[in-house]
Amino acid sequence: MAGFPAVRPRRLRRTPALRRLVAETRLHPADLVLPVFVREGVREPVPVSSMPGVVQHTLDSLRAAAVEAAEAGVGGIMLFGVPEEKDARGSAGTDPDGILQQGIRAVVEEVGDATVVMSDLCLDEFTDHGHCGLLAPDGSVDNDATLEVYAEMARAQADAGVHVVGPSGMMDGQVGVVRRALDGAGHQDVAVLAYAAKYASGFYGPFREAVQSSLQGDRKTYQQDAANLTESLREVALDVAEGADMVMVKPASAFLDVLRRVADSVDVPVAAYQVSGEYSMVEAAAAHGWIDRDRVVHETLTSIRRAGAQVVLTYWASEVARDLRRA
Ligand code: PBG
Repeated sequence: MAGFPAVRPRRLRRTPALRRLVAETRLHPADLVLPVFVREGVREPVPVSSMPGVVQHTLDSLRAAAVEAAEAGVGGIMLFGVPEEKDARGSAGTDPDGILQQGIRAVVEEVGDATVVMSDLCLDEFTDHGHCGLLAPDGSVDNDATLEVYAEMARAQADAGVHVVGPSGMMDGQVGVVRRALDGAGHQDVAVLAYAAKYASGFYGPFREAVQSSLQGDRKTYQQDAANLTESLREVALDVAEGADMVMVKPASAFLDVLRRVADSVDVPVAAYQVSGEYSMVEAAAAHGWIDRDRVVHETLTSIRRAGAQVVLTYWASEVARDLRRA
């Protein structure tokens, strides 16, 4: 039996150095984007109980978190606002002094030269009914009326200095409307990261607490059905045609097949969002001692990159970026 088997894949797995040499996928701090929540009217950061380790920031603690992220080398920060007052129209979202716009100004001032500042462009954080758009009299989400508000939001966020807006409401035509609104207001250089393939997902559960959403029901009339893959390719193609500079698939881990197909189908950078439920599942199992937290965090992020995401949004961004720098 000498010399058999001739091919031994195990040879390249023998030592950490060999495994590192032949690794096909690497994580780098610059690929990671940290989502952060900024809440209006609080003096101290408020822990999000459904997301251990995540808080709703004050403007001051937001600045500190942004500095920490930038020092760790993260590629970007994605901002979400939690206003004190919500109404049917989501007025705080378009108010030049709304909490998200204040957060953008603070982060741009603090770290705008060191990292990319992004903002979620959607109404659900700002509406009292919790939907991503305006409601028609019959209770349905009114696509075209919502687009007008998104245009206004895009201008408000760009006026505050954001580098990239992330339309995430899944209204038809939203990327084109946002692009035109930005261009019309002299913000030609503000980029659009389109949440292009966004599924109606149970994995957003913990996020609802983070933004204090009062949503009754679900978002199935505008976000995609988990059963569909081809539909994502159509959504992505539309967004690119409407001017998206980058596209995103969301959630990440349960949709790696979608991510791969999207990455193969477009020539713009592709991002994936490892959402709140993906984060909290790992944290919860780790808290029970059921899984090795750091190992699983690294494995999930590597898999998302391997499936085709160039950029990954993750609540672990700063921590992982720090670890990568130490390694
Ligand atoms: C919409 C938005 C949501 C998330 C990001 N942007 C909520 C939703 O679509 O229901 C979810 C992020 C997460 O779960 O971590 N503003």
